[in-house]
Amino acid sequence: MATALCQRLQLKLPLIQAPMAGGATTPQLVASVGEAGGLGFLAGAMLSPAQMREEAGKIRALSDAPFGINLFVQGRPAPEADEMALALRLLRPWHEELGLGAPAAPDSFCQPFDAQLDALLALRPAAASFTFGILDESQMRALKEAGILTIGTATNLAEGLAWAEAGADAVCAQGKEAGGHRGTFIGEQRESLRPMLSLVYELAQNLPLPVIAAGGIMNGRDMAAAMRHGAEACQLGTAFLRCPESGISPIWKQALAEAREGGTRLTRAFSGRYARGLDNRYMEAMADWEAALPAYPVMNALTAPMRAAAARAGRGELMSLWAGEGVAGARALPVAALIGELRDEWRAAYR
Ligand SMILES: Cc1cc2nc3c(=O)[nH]c(=O)nc-3n(C[C@H](O)[C@H](O)[C@H](O)COP(=O)(O)O)c2cc1C
Repeated sequence: MATALCQRLQLKLPLIQAPMAGGATTPQLVASVGEAGGLGFLAGAMLSPAQMREEAGKIRALSDAPFGINLFVQGRPAPEADEMALALRLLRPWHEELGLGAPAAPDSFCQPFDAQLDALLALRPAAASFTFGILDESQMRALKEAGILTIGTATNLAEGLAWAEAGADAVCAQGKEAGGHRGTFIGEQRESLRPMLSLVYELAQNLPLPVIAAGGIMNGRDMAAAMRHGAEACQLGTAFLRCPESGISPIWKQALAEAREGGTRLTRAFSGRYARGLDNRYMEAMADWEAALPAYPVMNALTAPMRAAAARAGRGELMSLWAGEGVAGARALPVAALIGELRDEWRAAYR
């Protein structure tokens, strides 16, 4: 049952731990996944090049297993003045509630992508994955020359074809069930909300590349279903959030433990890009305004002080509690035990 992609990445089972920016993918988590025979992924999007080097060094000190690094394809934004003014006005009452000073525009909205990519190339992970956009010819060539397996995220067929044309080694098909940010970069976001199994099947039928399934995969039966639809591996995010190795805050873990089926929804209000998380008071209150807010990374930077203060104060109703539709199936197990159960379930599903 070892697919070509799994062989190339030396995986003992077709399991990729999703990169999860925002603190979840600690070096311990990434290294433990690798030790258990899956592919761990460091989320590099919010890290400076120096932090990327530090985290990769820690992973390598813990394990010799291959791992990947993920980045958001992000440029330098030029927000409109009226969008900025609206966002700052809407954030003010939340700041007051948390005892923070008036919201203000930061000096920079995100890490410099070119410098992050240079750091990634120098670190030479086994794999690199990208979301929110696509790479240009010279960036793809540099990854090829460094021998790094390159994975592009696609939420629709056009994006999958674009990554194939660009020379990617694999495409990660992100179904609508997925927790965290939508990767959509071609077409309307609302037209790119395909259930994982149907998207995997369509991409596997139409692309000359291995497809990795992502979105709502919580157990070994889900993995087997995705593989039967043509996936060569499965990427699980939400399933790892409750592991002790995951670095998210206790309040987020508690909210996941209490979450029910149907408790998630998409919002643009935290970051300016649609993302799936546990429904809460901030999401509800901002719903009528979210379409008018500045795009990622501007809104993400503007809400950073509020989110950090809410986490410090244990106020989950003002935090971005990213989670996928399958959240009720997430297990609070150490990584090795979780992967052991996933392996048993996956094998049983084939019997
Ligand atoms: C908390 C969280 C953070 C995420 N951060 C990233 C990220 O930094 N980069 C990325 O490519 N995908 C990110 N994702 C999306 C995952 O790659 C993947 O699509 C998703 O987790 C799959 O769905 P699942 O959560 O139902 O398993 C994130 C997902 C979650 C839940």
